[in-house]
Amino acid sequence: ELSPIDKAKFVAAKRASDFVEDGMRVGLGTGSTAAWLVRCLGERVRDNGLKIRGVPTSTRTAELAREVGIEVISLDEARWLDLTIDGADEFDADLALIKGGGGALLQEKIVATASDQMIVIADAAKEVEHLGAFPLPIEVIPFGWQTTQALVEETLVSMDVMGRQATLRMNGEAPFVTDEGNHILDLHLGRIGNARQLAMVMNQIPGVVENGLFIDICDKVVIGFGDGRVETRD
Ligand code: A5P
Repeated sequence: ELSPIDKAKFVAAKRASDFVEDGMRVGLGTGSTAAWLVRCLGERVRDNGLKIRGVPTSTRTAELAREVGIEVISLDEARWLDLTIDGADEFDADLALIKGGGGALLQEKIVATASDQMIVIADAAKEVEHLGAFPLPIEVIPFGWQTTQALVEETLVSMDVMGRQATLRMNGEAPFVTDEGNHILDLHLGRIGNARQLAMVMNQIPGVVENGLFIDICDKVVIGFGDGRVETRD
């Protein structure tokens, strides 16, 4: 028996998996919700002979996809994708997202952008009126990260946000390292006024590789509830 939160994630993933058809090249997201999707797709591959190729957005997802029997190819082999299905940390009424809570935002954004369609799967708690309560992840290269951090914080002062603290994400005693060998700064903003502008300004700072704001990328959100209900927004 699943807990309400797992049930919500599962039903959202299950519903979204219905959009996957034979022959598709599918971007596979990262995180606990996306893991349900990968398992659902694996079941269809095994039991119904579904023929898909998957492009994972992290080493974790690649391992799981292989484990459940999905053929895994690289993005360069696929070149473009029919559909990407991924989780999110927050989404708003415009389907703008904060992603990267799991640290995979860089590959996630590249894969989602290379896809005809992106569907987000989420439990209802991730729907927000204003983005920013969830810390915004910024991927930075390790070289000079403290200088980059200072520059990020300075830049935030002039932006339409409440906070400006950028904390280095840790993995125990050591800095967290992404699949691309970078670090993550988590920006405690409280409330983001102009997400589009913030995303652009952050990416102009030398040392910043990518930010966790996904704007005009997501086409549909499938929302799961603890009682098994599902709603979609598009
Ligand atoms: C991974 O880097 C993130 O973008 C995830 O998509 C996000 O953290 C959602 O994860 P959960 O599905 O585990 O909440």
